[in-house]
Amino acid sequence: MQHKNSFISISSDDTFSFGSKFSNSIDYGSVIFLIGDLGSGKTTFSKGFASGLGFSDEILSPTYSILNEYKFNGKSLYHFDLYRLKSVNEFLEIGGIEYLNDKKSISLIEWPELIKEMVSDNIIEIKFEHLSEQERKITVL
Ligand SMILES: Nc1ncnc2c1ncn2[C@@H]1O[C@H](COP(=O)(O)OP(=O)(O)OP(=O)(O)O)[C@@H](O)[C@H]1O
Ligand SMILES: [Mg+2]
Repeated sequence: MQHKNSFISISSDDTFSFGSKFSNSIDYGSVIFLIGDLGSGKTTFSKGFASGLGFSDEILSPTYSILNEYKFNGKSLYHFDLYRLKSVNEFLEIGGIEYLNDKKSISLIEWPELIKEMVSDNIIEIKFEHLSEQERKITVL
């Protein structure tokens, strides 16, 4: 069910495939904010997104749990989950800005609220909303 720039997902698989298809319309160098409540499908979407670009092995960051990285063909996908981020400084300390400026990568960021002010240009925002137990509304802003 496609309606304008929003999509109604009826299952976890549906959200995964939406992410997978959506990834093919995104240029390297992009930063994507994923906005939505706990369990709204941000990580499920991200896994689909990675799979759509041919990334398979998720590399858990040895230094920091807020970042997982995928590498493939000299390119990277950075998947941030900033839910537990305490301050902007914490993000800066792990070189957050450098990751976002990496033109050979795409960054997906869950819970971006704390860093929102710092990175304002060229951001794609995707909103995830619970409609029911199994349904999610995904809107590309
Ligand atoms: N249509 C749907 N799309 C995505 N997930 C769904 C859907 N229906 C049910 N679910 C369930 O909702 C949960 C979504 O979890 P997911 O980790 O993707 O959310 P999240 O937004 O990343 O949450 P968090 O903020 O905690 O990181 C999963 O348990 C999944 O099985
Ligand atoms: Mg998540």
